[in-house]
Amino acid sequence: MAVKTSMFDLTGKVALVTGGASGLGKAIAEAMIRHGAKVLIGSRTQAKVDAAAKELDAIADETGEDPVAAGVALDVTSGGSAERAVRKAVDLFGGLHIVVNAAGHTVKKPTFDLTADEFNGLYDTHVTGSLRVAQAAGHIFREQHQGCIINIASMGSYVDLIEAAGYAAAKNAVLGLTRSLANEWAKYGIRTNAIAPGVILTDLNRSFVEGTDRGRRILEHTPMGRYGTGEEVAGAAVFLASPAGAFVNGETVAVDGGFLACGIGDGFAG
Ligand SMILES: NC(=O)c1ccc[n+]([C@@H]2O[C@H](COP(=O)([O-])OP(=O)(O)OC[C@H]3O[C@@H](n4cnc5c(N)ncnc54)[C@H](OP(=O)(O)O)[C@@H]3O)[C@@H](O)[C@H]2O)c1
Repeated sequence: MAVKTSMFDLTGKVALVTGGASGLGKAIAEAMIRHGAKVLIGSRTQAKVDAAAKELDAIADETGEDPVAAGVALDVTSGGSAERAVRKAVDLFGGLHIVVNAAGHTVKKPTFDLTADEFNGLYDTHVTGSLRVAQAAGHIFREQHQGCIINIASMGSYVDLIEAAGYAAAKNAVLGLTRSLANEWAKYGIRTNAIAPGVILTDLNRSFVEGTDRGRRILEHTPMGRYGTGEEVAGAAVFLASPAGAFVNGETVAVDGGFLACGIGDGFAG
């Protein structure tokens, strides 16, 4: 059964979620579908995209609606690929109103060992990739004078996460891009915001966070003493895309259990 209220209803909206076949992107796609949207998810691995799209489309059986999800092979490091994904959303679902830039990867290593290619690769995916998708969708948004862009930032946009300099630099730039688009494109009816999630265990970080000393230190620094969930991040995305977020522009919503508020931890995590 779709959960729809007037404030958070996304009925009639179409979203493109990059990185939507796993982790946070997939959770956001599911929440948007459950609030009435149709969603095209995209990432580089066709088989993963197909499997996730099938799983998400099964929500249509619960809601009794037409197809609600589809997938597209998408590499945000290619402008042509971003444009093809945007066109596919319009062709399949008849329009496009929301873009969520959740494609991403990380490189965790001492900064002396970080190569320029790794650094530039992080920037190309997180920052230039978000720009490519925003521009491709922005042309449609400007024409219809309506659109919502949500970029996925990080706690690393604000504070250092140790041995993740390339990721932090890129995620800082995501905030700059978010503010720039919010300022420049508002006149076209386009709102741009970001979400800064705390740590959510996903394919991106599980190997070096779950059960590690790094994970223990993260939890000690998190007043709520636990990792977040994809659903908790998705709630912020639904808010930003829905009528409830209609006057929110250029903002970054932290969903981090209090991590950014914490200077000295209370040892909550035990
Ligand atoms: N998990 C966290 O704690 C956390 C915290 C803060 C921010 N974030 C951010 O949240 C976003 C989602 O990450 P996640 O944790 O959900 O990890 P995830 O499960 O690994 O999801 C990232 C997705 O991005 C896709 N991707 C990577 N490069 C791509 C490219 N060039 N073009 C298109 N898709 C690409 C990957 O699929 P393919 O390999 O198939 O392309 C993958 O499915 C990222 O921006 C990440 O930095 C995560």
